[in-house]
Amino acid sequence: MATKKNRTSSISTKTTAKKSVADSVVKVALLGFGTVGSSVAKVLASARFPGLELTHIFNRNVARKRVSPAANVVPDSVVWSEDISVVLKSNADVVVELMGGLTPAEGWIRKALSSGKSVVTANKQLIAYRGRSLERLAAQHGVHLVYGAAVAGGVPVIPGMQQGLGGDRLTRLSGIVNGTCNYILSRMESGADYATVLADAQQLGYAEADPAADVDGYDARAKLCILSRIALRAELDPDAVTTQSISTVEAVDFAYAKELNCTIRQVSRAQLEGGMVHARVAPMLVPLSSPMAWSHGTQNMVVTSGVFGGDVVFSGHGAGGEPTAVAVVSDLLAVAHDSTVVRLPARKRPVTGEFMAPHYLRFVVDDKPGIVSAIAGALAKVGANIDSLLQRPGYPKHRLPFVVTTEPCLTSTIEKAMNSIAKLDCMLERPLCLQIVIPEDKPE
Ligand SMILES: NC(=O)c1ccc[n+]([C@@H]2O[C@H](COP(=O)([O-])OP(=O)(O)OC[C@H]3O[C@@H](n4cnc5c(N)ncnc54)[C@H](OP(=O)(O)O)[C@@H]3O)[C@@H](O)[C@H]2O)c1
Repeated sequence: MATKKNRTSSISTKTTAKKSVADSVVKVALLGFGTVGSSVAKVLASARFPGLELTHIFNRNVARKRVSPAANVVPDSVVWSEDISVVLKSNADVVVELMGGLTPAEGWIRKALSSGKSVVTANKQLIAYRGRSLERLAAQHGVHLVYGAAVAGGVPVIPGMQQGLGGDRLTRLSGIVNGTCNYILSRMESGADYATVLADAQQLGYAEADPAADVDGYDARAKLCILSRIALRAELDPDAVTTQSISTVEAVDFAYAKELNCTIRQVSRAQLEGGMVHARVAPMLVPLSSPMAWSHGTQNMVVTSGVFGGDVVFSGHGAGGEPTAVAVVSDLLAVAHDSTVVRLPARKRPVTGEFMAPHYLRFVVDDKPGIVSAIAGALAKVGANIDSLLQRPGYPKHRLPFVVTTEPCLTSTIEKAMNSIAKLDCMLERPLCLQIVIPEDKPE
């Protein structure tokens, strides 16, 4: 890769402006001094990486950041600013964007790339929605855009897939990429109810005051789209990917899942078949023997399936300032060493939420004769076969939860039946429908 040698200054040029440790010190500007930004400053200060120098920190109302305890590690030479033009016009070679959100991050990243600065970011929403066009802009200006921390925080899923698995043809990926949901669901596994665990997660800082982006699946959806681009070489429109909230899963579902030798996790999965990508983010039953069941708390896990190399599992701390900072600094080192990232071309692909899978259906009813035959009739009408019926003792007859599992069938088929079952008089709440993940799951 062509790197401009012996540059005396890295201030914006429209020509190739990459600078590597082979040239001299690579100057780094941080945008955002929050959880991850301050941890990046800490890692850079403590590990003293030769060739990397933190020169600028930008944040709104920067004075309070400058006197925060996290600022103690920051060298005196660093310029603190709340004026973005100070950074964009500076001699920093790499801008590290750790503010989050689409605006104003996108505009500032575009300006940085256009002025010949490489960019490292952990911003999943930005990369999911704008990654392709930003990559084009970076290539046009001969600089790097790297985002290894955007999915699974400290777990090197993105560089692992780009570098280590670039030689395989990956056809499927599935995983747990939202630590908040994994914390909630893995605690519910031990009997706690959703509302209590969510409140705990908020107190511990694992969940936002408005938890919708996590529990309703939008955060995981952005990550799934980034992973699909790299693993399946498929560009997906994030808004077209089906999501289902974990908020309707109840403690009783874990009891029934256990009887089926399963537990419940928020699974993000995508599979390339016949030019179409089958993708979905939803709570699903996963076998207790599968890697996804082993991941607890805020851990992340991604399993890829390749035609030649088979399954590969990535796992570790998916969030938190310091694990994520490790991924950011690793990206910085790659930029500083001008390392060539393997970027195989991705194509726009249509997306569907359909999977051929067995399904778990949970009903809460005011018990009376004929309910099971009404449910069986509705399922038979759409051609879905019942595999098992589970009813645990100890629940009151006037509010009885019981479960039906089906043989593999399309999710849309099941949803059709569920719409008519939901209208039965005896139904006390909307029935819950979850896919059951089995290794042989195949999209239609
Ligand atoms: N935290 C994690 O575990 C984790 C893991 C993987 C990826 N990420 C990604 O890393 C990025 C940063 O996350 P974080 O957890 O560090 O967030 P954070 O703690 O909220 O930090 C963001 C920082 O950026 C500043 N900021 C935000 N918008 C700004 C604006 N318009 N102008 C100037 N400053 C602005 C904030 O200032 P204020 O203090 O004034 O709000 C704050 O200091 C996000 O893209 C996130 O998705 C985070």
